[in-house]
Amino acid sequence: MLYRKVAKPILFRMDPEQAHRLTVHGLGKAVRVPGVLPLMRSFWDVKDDPRLETELFGIRFRHPVGLAAGLDKDAVAVEGFASMGFSFLEVGTVTPVGQPGNDRPRLFRLPEDEALINRMGFNNEGAEAMAGRLARLQTRRAPIAVNIGKNKATPNEKAADDYRACLRALYPHGDFFVVNISSPNTPGLRQLQHGEELKALLRAVREEIAEQALKAGGRPKPIVVKIAPDMTEAEIEQTVGVLAEGGADGIIATNTTLSRDGLRSPNRTQEGGLSGRPLAARSTEVIRAIWRLTGGKLPIIGSGGIFDGRDAYDKIRAGASLVEIYTSLIYRGPGVVRRIVAELSELMARDGFRRIGDAVGADHR
Ligand SMILES: Cc1cc2nc3c(=O)[nH]c(=O)nc-3n(C[C@H](O)[C@H](O)[C@H](O)COP(=O)(O)O)c2cc1C
Repeated sequence: MLYRKVAKPILFRMDPEQAHRLTVHGLGKAVRVPGVLPLMRSFWDVKDDPRLETELFGIRFRHPVGLAAGLDKDAVAVEGFASMGFSFLEVGTVTPVGQPGNDRPRLFRLPEDEALINRMGFNNEGAEAMAGRLARLQTRRAPIAVNIGKNKATPNEKAADDYRACLRALYPHGDFFVVNISSPNTPGLRQLQHGEELKALLRAVREEIAEQALKAGGRPKPIVVKIAPDMTEAEIEQTVGVLAEGGADGIIATNTTLSRDGLRSPNRTQEGGLSGRPLAARSTEVIRAIWRLTGGKLPIIGSGGIFDGRDAYDKIRAGASLVEIYTSLIYRGPGVVRRIVAELSELMARDGFRRIGDAVGADHR
């Protein structure tokens, strides 16, 4: 209500990237003011409900709805986003060395389609800066996933070195790691999703994780790979095969799309990755395909166009154990998390599921 009537009209009159920066950095600063964090929690936090709890690759999640990568690229507002009730927070994509990203403007609203197009190009302050911030966190109320990528200047033959450098800098600070090979805004990155290149990258990443685990003690932390929706059935099959055999702990489906089908907004001609409502059906289809190909054995995190409980439930029934959102937070505001979780809880009760885990992949049974 407060977001729709007050904050959104102001933010939507601003340049999208400026609005974004103001919100994320404002959130980062606001939580340092005594009393603000509890106040935010009282507005937005999600009540614990054991039926919605889930455990995935050894990590406990209060419910299935997390924050997707790209909103808090430098981990400047982790505590603020945690107060919005997310069950996990994905920070990044971070690269070994800070880089400016593409020229502005590079973020566009498509309100008629409830969508965004972005060609940010991994603008971020680099792995060391993020490590410092995560090390200084006062509270960690939700598991943190660190999404890692390669610098624009690094050729694909050397990509593995960049992913390893990110892991070296950030291993102690993440609960799990996301290998991003699916952003459309770093030239050539999506080629890493296929065949021998993917095999080699996965091998390198697993080796680094093993080395870091040895140093830190404890079991190797989970590693999941985020894929694009713009693949043929045959390509999905090949990629999923490599990931399953190569020992990935999970898969995020999906990143933004290059498709422009059915859009009405004038901004549809902008270059970049499309997120939000128009991505929902396609990303659910990819989740369904992955589940079918793996018999439900490879954990899936669903991402793409989730605006309400129904959208989240569709992805869970198709095979996702967790889901994550970005664009609906921009259009609906922070209350969207609590609403999605409440609607999800109603839908699973309606269908007779006692725990959310029982609904995962239900469409296939
Ligand atoms: C402005 C913007 C920046 C993004 N940056 C990243 C990123 O750095 N790394 C990444 O893996 N995904 C990134 N994404 C993709 C989101 O994490 C998410 O997978 C995608 O937007 C689909 O979810 P949604 O429809 O709920 O937004 C970005 C999305 C947007 C809109």
